[in-house]
Order: sequence, then C-alpha cells, then structure tokens
Amino acid sequence: MCGIIAGIKKGNIVQDLIGCLKKLEYRGYDSAGLACFENNRIERYRSVGRVSELEKIVDTKYSNIGIAHTRWATHGKVNELNAHPHLSIKDGFSVCVIHNGIIENYKELKATLIKYGYSFESQTDSEVLAHLLHLERKKFSSLKEALNSVRKKLIGAYALVAICDKDPNTISGTKSSSSLVLGIDRGSHQYFLSSDPNSLSGISTHIVFIEELELICLNGSEFTIYDENLNKINRDLTKLDFASDKISRGEYASFMQKEIHEQPNAIAMTLENFFDENSLTPILFGNDAPKIFEEVEQIIIIACGTSYHAGLVAKYWIEELAKVHVSVEIASEFRYRKSVLKNKTLMIGISQSGETADTLAALKLARKLGLEWIFGICNVQESTLIRICNLSFITRAGLEIGVASTKAFTTQLASLFVFALTLAKTKNHINTQNERNFLKQLRHLPNAVASILNGEMSVKNWIKYFESKQNVLFLGRGIHYPIAMEGALKLKEISYIHAEAYAAGELKHGPLALIDESMPIIAIAPNDDLVNKLKNNLEEVKARGGRLFIIADQGFELREDSCTKIITLGDHAGFLSPILHVIPLQLLAYHVANSKGNDVDKPRNLAKSVTVE
Ligand code: F6R
Repeated sequence: MCGIIAGIKKGNIVQDLIGCLKKLEYRGYDSAGLACFENNRIERYRSVGRVSELEKIVDTKYSNIGIAHTRWATHGKVNELNAHPHLSIKDGFSVCVIHNGIIENYKELKATLIKYGYSFESQTDSEVLAHLLHLERKKFSSLKEALNSVRKKLIGAYALVAICDKDPNTISGTKSSSSLVLGIDRGSHQYFLSSDPNSLSGISTHIVFIEELELICLNGSEFTIYDENLNKINRDLTKLDFASDKISRGEYASFMQKEIHEQPNAIAMTLENFFDENSLTPILFGNDAPKIFEEVEQIIIIACGTSYHAGLVAKYWIEELAKVHVSVEIASEFRYRKSVLKNKTLMIGISQSGETADTLAALKLARKLGLEWIFGICNVQESTLIRICNLSFITRAGLEIGVASTKAFTTQLASLFVFALTLAKTKNHINTQNERNFLKQLRHLPNAVASILNGEMSVKNWIKYFESKQNVLFLGRGIHYPIAMEGALKLKEISYIHAEAYAAGELKHGPLALIDESMPIIAIAPNDDLVNKLKNNLEEVKARGGRLFIIADQGFELREDSCTKIITLGDHAGFLSPILHVIPLQLLAYHVANSKGNDVDKPRNLAKSVTVE
C-alpha cells in the first residue's frame, strides 16, 4: 500500500528519500514521486513503475528538505498525474502533500475548492488535500495551523505530510487511522517522517509514533509534537533496533523463497520462551492474562486473508484442547455486522503487519461495544494493533517482505497453538504429562519444518502439471481445510491461477461437477481421524477422471499412478500437522509462479500491508 517518507537534514536528503522509498517497495505500489526545495522553490518529480525510474530522474538533485511517496492506486488510474506528491500552486505560493489513506468526503471538498478557483489535474482523493491546505495556508500564518484546520475538515483515514514554500524549513504532518512515525538521528541532525518504521532502519536511531490527531512539525534541526489543540506535548523516544542489513535477499532468488526457508528459525524464535518445562504460563501474554484466561467463556478471532486462515486453524485447537467456543470472522465483515457480544468474550486480532485497516476497525468496534479483553497476535511490536490491545503476543518471524505471507503464517500458527495449550492448562484440561508431550512436539517443530523444506525437489517436479492450468481445486478436511484454503490463496495471489478450496465432504454438493481430466486437484491428506473419509472423496474424484496431487503422511494407502501423484511427508504430526502440511503448498505456489516468470515478491494489484478499506 502507499508509503510515506519525508525528511530534513543538514546535507543532501534526496538519496536518503530514494533509499527509504526502496525499503517501502515491499508494501506494494504502482508509482512513486518526490518533491523538494530547490532554491527556495518546491520542485516535484513523479514516475510510473519502480522507484528506480524515479531515482534516475532525481539522481543529480540536491536539497535538504523533501517529501516522497509510493502510491498504490485507490482513486484513479495508475499514471503520473495521479502519483503523489500533489501540488497546489496559486496566488504566488505552493503547497505540496503526500497522503496515505482515503478521504471519504473528497467529492464535497473538491466541489468547494473548485468554487474557490482551484483546478484539479488528477482523479485522486488526495489532490484535494493539497488545494485545501493551500486555501487554509492563506488564512493562517503557519503551515502547522493550516494543517490543523485542514484536519478538522476531513472524514476518512489519513497520514498526511506537507511542505509549503512560505515555510521553507518546515515539514508538517498529521494522522488519523493510518500510521505515521518520526525517525530521529540527533548525531547526524536528521529527522524523518514515515508510514513504516522499517523504512527508517540505518537512518534513525530512535522513533516516536505519532498518535491519533496529533500534529508533528520538523523545523531545521528540531521537532515538535502538538495535540489537537496545538498544545506542545513531550513524548518518549523509542530506540530503533532494526539492522539495515536485515533487508536483503541473501542467496535466494526472491524474498518469498528466502522467507519460506527462514521458517524453521522463525518458528524457533517465536517459541523460544516456551521450550522449557512449565513454560506455559498466561503471564507471557500480558499481566491481565491469568485472570482473563480463567474467566473467558467464548473467543472471537478477527483477521483478514492468510491471518484469517491461521484463525480458522486455531479454532480447532482451542475448542478441542481448552473447550472454549471460538468463532472466526473476516474483519471486513465483522466491522459492518450488528453483532451481539457477550460478556467474558476474548477477542483475538491476528495480523502480520498490525496495520490492516479492517482488522483495526473491527477491534476498535469491539472495544466500543464494551469488550474489555482484546488480544493481538502480531509480527510488529510497534504496530497500531499491539498498541490498542491489552493482551499481546509477538511472533518473531522477522521482517516479511514478500507480499505473500509465509513465515508470518506459520509463526502465527505456532503462537496460536501455544495460546490454546496455555488456555487449556489454565482451565485444567491438560495434565502435566500432556503438557510435557506437547512441549516436546513444539521443540521438534523447527526440525520437522526443515526436513519438509529439504524435500523441495519433489514439489518442483510438480510444476509442469500446473504452470499452464487455469483452475486448481484444493481439498482438505477438518483442521486441514483451512490449510487447503491457504494453499489456494497462495497459488492464486502469485501465480494468477484461479484456485478454490473446498472441504472435501462438500464435493458432492456441487463442485464435483467441475471435475474432468483438465482439473488438477490438490488434496491435503494427513493420517488423521478423517483420512478414510478423505480417501472416499478422492476416489470420487478419480472415478470422474480428475488428476490428483496429494500431500500425504507416511502410511497413506492410495498408490501413485498416471492420474495420482503423491508427496509423502513424515509420520503424522498430530495437532501440529497443519503447520507442516502448508509448507509444500507454499513451495508449490512459489515455484509455479516463478516458472511463469511472475514477480513473486510483488504480485500484481496486491500490497503487503492493506492500510485502507
Ligand atoms: C496473503 C496475505 C494477506 C494478508 C492479509 C492480512 O498472502 O499476506 O492475505 O494475510 O492482507 O494482513 P495482516 O496479517 O498484515 O493483517
């Protein structure tokens, strides 16, 4: 999604801004732009496509103040006119803005601005911000006051950063429901505003999160934060501990491939605190967790996409182990539903980024409806999600750059399993021996994942059966049905092959009509209680000429033949089986997409962090 970076320093900032835009690339974008002061005038440069195109244009520019942006189109096509920064030039001065989010009342604002004589060159909602700020700057004596006045007229989500040539040493920013963070390196006298702390690695030693409706001004070598009444506020600085060299593909062809292979380590890091005996203690989820875990009677899990699939798997674990009822909901649906929330309900928000607009809105709604217990599982400690939750667990997957989530998913699953066990222990549903056995299985999990990754070659052998296909059906049963859903999502988002997942028992209620020799069917077939039921479903597919591709455990009884291919993993891993069975599906999606020549890290139309509705 869109990315913001703006900065001020003693030397030339242009290359820093380009470097930061490159670090924001992983979020997904379609055009980029930069504006800076040159000889006290604002100059603006924009280009469609990669940041490297913009880099060529600004290569020789020099400025110590600038704002830059990567745009992911929401309103208006992908073209240069719609790219940010947006500029308003009128009555002898200019205002220039970059914006993340969506301004819902932009049409009304635009109509008013046209009456004031402003003309529009783009189809975006963001351009109104430039003209509105210009109009307000005529009324107020500083950019800060003008921005504060603009803020009051906006409906929607925004992180907004601006410069004006009447205020040559100043950058101002504000935010509502969209992330904005200040990066500081006092030693080098440089200050940045960004929508993503990851982009500040290497150029900032400390960060400060700008809170809702606050206003921030960078001025020369100072920064000031104001509340919504423009009173100055003091904020503590947080040390930034990203190492800039973390953002590298290393020996791998893509970030996604690297991230798939990082899973054993990511899972081990995430589970680090749970490898000892007696380590299952609620306190690791927050100070209030012991009381909440004892009293909770029902759980609602809220998430989107891959994180939603993690929630669906967790439902099976929590209900079976802790005997607490769980419902799992897509955040964008929950937030607009008139739901009835009972007392003693724990809401769990799962999000890799912690910035997904729908998930945040759903959790805030739950809070508004009176839910006190909100638990966030997230890969980013500094995220908005973690800041609005009273219980939290941080997955330690490390930065995930590939748009298609892989290591974030398996670490979410590992965390959710630990949560299910801890809840079960608190509610006296597992005894000490069970606890020891589960912890032993968890200790082995990173190795089990590694050994599946070692079998990558057998997945590669399947590429030829998929790369020319238009449609693929995924089948699973029980706790592996959400894994089939995740396999289908991975394949469709990076290979652009249409893929759907079905609970195998549903086949004969409709989708069986699709089966013929041109339709590959991927079946997730662990040796669990449902394996014989699944085999019957697969026989139904074979009888209709379907081509079967089965991810099985040792001991699976169907044999390979011209229409049936089988990849066999190790012995059945019990409760942890979903975490293992998803690995070949990630690898398959990756290799099929790669062999089609697709950009696997940045699939078309998608963004890493979906910060707008
Ligand atoms: C798919 C994928 C997305 C995200 C979804 C939620 O590979 O990554 O479906 O899972 O956009 O994102 P987070 O987890 O950041 O809330």
